[in-house]
Amino acid sequence: MERRRGDSYLGREFSEPAGLPEDVHVKKKMECVDCHQTLQGGMGHIERRATCQDCHPEVEQAMAKSLHKKVSCEACHVKMLGGYEMTSWGSGMVASKPSPFKKYSLYYGPMEPPILIKDQQGIWIPAKIWPNSMGGFKDAVAPKPGLTWRWPKGETRDALVHLGTFSVPGGNNNYLAWLQVEQVAHPLGRSRTCESCHDAPAQVAKVTWEYLDTQGAEPFKGSQRVVADKDGLRVVDIKATTKMKPLPDGKTEHFAAWMHLGDIWKTGGDFSIPKSDPAKYKKLNTDVRAALAKLSAEDKQLKAREARGEDVKKERRRWKEARAAAVHEAVQYLSGMK
Ligand code: HEC
Ligand code: HEC
Ligand code: HEC
Ligand code: HEC
Repeated sequence: MERRRGDSYLGREFSEPAGLPEDVHVKKKMECVDCHQTLQGGMGHIERRATCQDCHPEVEQAMAKSLHKKVSCEACHVKMLGGYEMTSWGSGMVASKPSPFKKYSLYYGPMEPPILIKDQQGIWIPAKIWPNSMGGFKDAVAPKPGLTWRWPKGETRDALVHLGTFSVPGGNNNYLAWLQVEQVAHPLGRSRTCESCHDAPAQVAKVTWEYLDTQGAEPFKGSQRVVADKDGLRVVDIKATTKMKPLPDGKTEHFAAWMHLGDIWKTGGDFSIPKSDPAKYKKLNTDVRAALAKLSAEDKQLKAREARGEDVKKERRRWKEARAAAVHEAVQYLSGMK
């Protein structure tokens, strides 16, 4: 998880690359199994499904009634990812022997923000998206448009875009190319802003990476963008941003096939966040801000009372519940409490 899709729970020195944010629950000393059930399998067998209900019931309730009931918690609360940003399979050394299928995958870096996609049930979830190619294919393979779910019955919410095969002059037979589109859920933290999802016609994620494999070339840096809008999903502007120094046996056709494949990393379909009704949007935005301001005033009053030594535990608990409900369904809160 840390290396591939790069959704890191622990973050900091444990993430790839190091220094990504830690999940808000780490500070609370929460363990994986506080959210992931282990069932009969025990520790080695952690379920992918996780629940927030146990500890944030007021949020779950508010969300169920909200305009965002089809938006997962993680979609708003995960802002940055790490891990692989590219893989290029080609000739190289595997276990000290020459192989046509060496995986040059150490293109590590952050992607921000995650791209939202609709899962098999129409729920918006955040995803990590990156290009992959594998040279050495004899046969041609046709592309499949749109997302292909890895497990169509919904055991997971990971998908692929099958781009098909491409040939390159002087290259390594055909190159099979695909995009990995993987669900992410960590690190949870403060929410993204309304604007980051609603203000632009396209979702755009900025990606930077550093090539760190010991074969192919000396370390170099690069970048790309992931774009999702009404015209489809694509990875564009893949480029090296520092000088590339290939090692004696290093050939870009192998460790950096993307340099030869061109503008192939795309599929059609509507990947845009629906344009929201401007009146509803404005009202919700104003209401959330108003609720936060009101709650912050109440917070000050409670703090003042705490400072005077008063016991406000009950009020504090109620305040926390009100706050959680308010920011997730401000409309209800404002009409209900005033
Ligand atoms: C605050 C709750 C929470 C904690 C704590 C937590 N996770 Fe998760 N994790 C989630 C959620 C939510 C998902 C998405 C589940 C789903 O598929 O709906 C998830 C998904 C995952 C996945 C699945 C990614 C995939 O392959 O699809 C893995 C693996 C994972 N978590 C590992 C961990 C590990 C390891 C820890 C502890 C170091 C941990 N999680 C701690 C909430 C949590
Ligand atoms: C075992 C209890 C527990 C579970 C399960 C749990 N949380 Fe939390 N969560 C906490 C605690 C404790 C805090 C800190 C709250 C506080 O400081 O008042 C917190 C804080 C948060 C925050 C606040 C972040 C911030 O700084 O603004 C978010 C967002 C959050 N949780 C999301 C989730 C999501 C999503 C899930 C389900 C995947 C989940 N939590 C599951 C206990 C839990
Ligand atoms: C549409 C975006 C959105 C979705 C979806 C969403 N949240 Fe939030 N959440 C927010 C905003 C905005 C805040 C305000 C504080 C912040 O910026 O994190 C917040 C705050 C929180 C907090 C901290 C409460 C506090 O008083 O600061 C928790 C806990 C939380 N969310 C849990 C969840 C859980 C659990 C879910 C899913 C059931 C969820 N959120 C879904 C936007 C969202
Ligand atoms: C993480 C991305 C994200 C964030 C942050 C977010 N939204 Fe949304 N919003 C969505 C998505 C996705 C939908 C569509 C949900 C659906 O398909 O049902 C939506 C739906 C809506 C709708 C309903 C659309 C309609 O016209 O019926 C409104 C209004 C809205 N958002 C306003 C806001 C406001 C205001 C904020 C900030 C408080 C906000 N959103 C934060 C992603 C987001």
